[in-house]
Amino acid sequence: MFSHLPTPVLDPILSLSVAYRNDPRPDKVDLGIGVYKNSAGETPVMKAISQAQDIVVASQKTKSYVGLAGCEEFNQSMVELLLSGTSAMERVAAIQTPGASGALRMLGDLIKVAQPDTCVWLSNPSYVNHRPVMEAAGLKVKQYTYFSPQTKQVDTSRMLEELVHAGPNDVVLLHGCCHNPTGADIDFTTWQAITELAQKNGFVPFVDVAYQGFGDGLEQDVQGLRFMADNVEEMMITTSCSKNFGLYRERTGAAIVVGKSLQEVTNAKGRALTLARSTYTMPPDHGAALVKTILQSHELTGIWKQELSEMQQRLVSLRKSLCQEFQNTHNTSQFDFIENHKGMFTMLGFSQEQMAQLRETYGIYGVGDGRINIAGLTEKDMAYVADAIVKVC
Ligand code: LMR
Repeated sequence: MFSHLPTPVLDPILSLSVAYRNDPRPDKVDLGIGVYKNSAGETPVMKAISQAQDIVVASQKTKSYVGLAGCEEFNQSMVELLLSGTSAMERVAAIQTPGASGALRMLGDLIKVAQPDTCVWLSNPSYVNHRPVMEAAGLKVKQYTYFSPQTKQVDTSRMLEELVHAGPNDVVLLHGCCHNPTGADIDFTTWQAITELAQKNGFVPFVDVAYQGFGDGLEQDVQGLRFMADNVEEMMITTSCSKNFGLYRERTGAAIVVGKSLQEVTNAKGRALTLARSTYTMPPDHGAALVKTILQSHELTGIWKQELSEMQQRLVSLRKSLCQEFQNTHNTSQFDFIENHKGMFTMLGFSQEQMAQLRETYGIYGVGDGRINIAGLTEKDMAYVADAIVKVC
């Protein structure tokens, strides 16, 4: 049965983590997978999560099944974090999923059931898993121009020119904030322009929010999303607790549908639950139980927000230090764009060969497409990394 299967193509991000682990060089630096690290180079369990864990362990009396939609209080909390204050709160439904990749697949499958001919438009470039997930759901995929290699910012005019051609059979996938892999975000005016296009031309926006809180702050990061949700009849949202709750391995996310009426999204949710039943049945509970415990406690929410804000500020300061290192030690302003990017990632604009050179010669592991994870930097690596980047440039 399996003998004809070819050697698998490895995931460009996950395979990098394995290569990094196996690299014996002591000064190696992991700027690959999107994981936050503190100044000691560790990814500790957040304090709010530790405290919630104690509460859950002490109070949980059973490990019996939860239900196809996972924890409904968690689902409601996710909807509030994303859409609070919008008219969409009246016509939204959510289900808990195994991480945001699970949510992407769930909504991909739901699109396939609801409108099989749909084409999903992805930014070029986009998160490496967007295309595989949408194609695995049987959907067609198209790309729209997003990033300008010259300015290292969003090429807004080309993006909007191309999205004019998206119509009623199309879904346009956007990144809510902290664009992966570029770090270049669209501004509020562009959110308004895309909203107007969706209203006029009939495509359905699909917003992937994996880094809420890592750009400018929890509320600021969803300003564009909220405007859109207030003004379109239908949209889809995926969200993740991997980064902002540090729950990477717990696979905690949600798939959200906004529709014309509550009845409509209740039907969509019902269909999603049937899809869940025929794949994983129900999502793992632990991560969602922790998030629910935090968000239902005023005190724990305060601790969590403070920790998240510290992580966000650390990213801003790492970006600043790296730029200063380039300016002061190497007398170049060529990398000033790094300071304007948001969240964990920055697209250096390097070729596959240059990224391979960074890895092979200097033990600096970034993704082959030129993405580096700023959150993987520590103060002690700053000079070494800047020096290697200048040498490879
Ligand atoms: C990343 O882009 O590095 C993360 O979102 C991890 C993943 O799932 O690929």
